[in-house]
Amino acid sequence: MREGRPRSDALVFFGATGDLAYKKIFPALQGLVRRGRLDVPVVGVAKSGWTRDQLVARARASVTENGGLDPEAFPKLAALLRYVDGDYADLATFERLKAELAQAQHPLHYLAIPPSMFPLVVENLAKSSCAVNARVVVEKPFGRDLASAKQLNAVLHKVLPEEAIFRIDHYLGKEAVQNILYFRFANAFLEPVFNRRYVENVQITMAESFGVKGRGKFYDETGVIRDVIQNHLLQIVSYLAMEAPSSTYHEAIRDEQAKVLRNVRPLSVDNMVRGQFRGYRDEPGVAKDSYMATYAALRLWVDSWRWEGVPFFVRAGKCLKTTCTEVMVELKCPPPVVFGEAKPPMGNTIRFRLSPQVVIAIGALAKRPGEGMKGEPVELSVVEEPEQGKDGRMDAYERLLGDAMAGDATLFARQDVVEAAWAIVDPVIHGPSPMYEYESGSWGPPEADRLAAEVGGWNTPQ
Ligand code: BG6
Repeated sequence: MREGRPRSDALVFFGATGDLAYKKIFPALQGLVRRGRLDVPVVGVAKSGWTRDQLVARARASVTENGGLDPEAFPKLAALLRYVDGDYADLATFERLKAELAQAQHPLHYLAIPPSMFPLVVENLAKSSCAVNARVVVEKPFGRDLASAKQLNAVLHKVLPEEAIFRIDHYLGKEAVQNILYFRFANAFLEPVFNRRYVENVQITMAESFGVKGRGKFYDETGVIRDVIQNHLLQIVSYLAMEAPSSTYHEAIRDEQAKVLRNVRPLSVDNMVRGQFRGYRDEPGVAKDSYMATYAALRLWVDSWRWEGVPFFVRAGKCLKTTCTEVMVELKCPPPVVFGEAKPPMGNTIRFRLSPQVVIAIGALAKRPGEGMKGEPVELSVVEEPEQGKDGRMDAYERLLGDAMAGDATLFARQDVVEAAWAIVDPVIHGPSPMYEYESGSWGPPEADRLAAEVGGWNTPQ
């Protein structure tokens, strides 16, 4: 906890009977209790006509299905749980919440609800005095484009100062994503080569082998760029490309993220290939003539002193061949004058696999045993572990909620960072651009190959 920041003394979550609460929030709350990080009232709010007992039963089913019920922690969580039922448009709901909060001086309100409801809920929090000295956590998507994100920020700022607003991007809570930052700046060998003189290109692939999983309506209003690129993948770009946050100032990291994202050239259609998997239009909730992309490949340019001329390739898609998120940084090849070999297909690499396993690996050439000086590719694998949360370690939501309760916003998206990320994709999300169909189980539309052709193609995760 930062000095001078009081811990939140109550945790309120709106959307308590919803999907996100079931899949992520109850397991995170149980994790927080297990680690002794949560011992204050936890108030669920929803309009479902439920009782507190029903909410506790839902919490029990949630943790059982998502990670397992902890026989010590769960009863403690159940004892902390309260429930307020009511319409978010009705001030009386918030007056009941106020009464439930009783002694709390610094409540944390987590809005696990559709963004269209944020303004109403925040306004009623203010009217009922529930927003006094409070923090608010909001879920993504934060706006639909740059203009709507600015509007949303303006609405929130009418009631709350920026330091009280916590915009969740669960990728920032992932151990493996934080390790990009750590590995870059905690080691001496990487930083001297992490720039345009040595790096040939950077690639980020977020592949998912599944489709829209019953979220057709949401997805068809969102598409891949708003769903995972503007937020998750551009946050990763910022960690890879930013300058060293060399200061103890608590906003140093987010300052550098904002600075580097402002240097990313706004996207143009010729730096993007969009795709839609065959069968997407038959998904429930999806328009029969939908033009929404389920795949996008982008070539980004970071116009900074460090990265000028180095392409950053980003691609993400549903119904691809595998589920895997990986970052590959490829270095330029050394001159082939010593061993007289042909130029290898790729230079040295630094590979960060973010999921489903966590791997950091350095790719190099070593001499193949035997006569002559011939090389073969080898990988020095630095870390190899299952993804967080899958082996009992801290899940992203648990980490982020714990940080928000402590008032530490480092792993949340700051207003200027969110707006800088929107400014990158804004030019291409409104206008028309070609859309290519691709087969489920493939690596997306073959048209995407032309984007990365200049660097020898995509580094497809193995
Ligand atoms: C969410 C997106 O933010 O991230 C989903 O809405 C996506 O479409 C998910 O599947 C991926 O998260 P993770 O942690 O499973 O990689």
